[in-house]
Amino acid sequence: MNVKFGLPLAAAALFLVAFLPCTAKGAAKKATGAEAFKMYCASCHAGGGNKVAPNHPLAGSSQLDSIVRFKDYLSSPPGHMPYYESLVKDKATLEALYKYCKTLKKAPGEPA
Ligand code: HEC
Repeated sequence: MNVKFGLPLAAAALFLVAFLPCTAKGAAKKATGAEAFKMYCASCHAGGGNKVAPNHPLAGSSQLDSIVRFKDYLSSPPGHMPYYESLVKDKATLEALYKYCKTLKKAPGEPA
C-alpha cells in the first residue's frame, strides 16, 4: 500500500471504528435502567424511597432479591403500586431497571 492511499484509508477506517458503534446503538435504542426508573418509578420511589407508602421503600426491598422475584412483584403489584404491563414484557428494559434498582441505597435512618 503506498502512502498516498494508505493515510486516507487509515483515516476512513478509524472514522468507521469510532462512528459505527454509536449509530448501531442509536438504531436499537433501549431505555437504560436509570431512564426506565425515571419514566416509571421515580414519581413515587425517587432516590429509592416511597412517597405513597413510606414504610415500603424500594431501596433494599426483598423484592429485589432476584430478577424473578422482581418481575413477579411488578406483574401483580399490591396496594397502590401501579402495574406496567409493557415494562414487565420488555425483558431488556426490565433487567436494566432491576440492576439500577439494586444500586439504590436506603438513606440512613429511613424505615426498613
Ligand atoms: C404511584 C406510585 C408508585 C409508582 C409509580 C411505583 N410504585 Fe412501587 N410501590 C408503591 C407503593 C404504594 C408500594 C407499597 C405497596 C404495598 O405493599 O402496599 C410500592 C412498593 C414497591 C416495592 C416493594 C417495596 C417493599 O415493600 O419491599 C418495589 C420493589 C417497588 N415498589 C418497585 C417499583 C418499581 C420498580 C417501579 C417502577 C416500575 C415502581 N415501584 C413504581 C408505589 C409506586
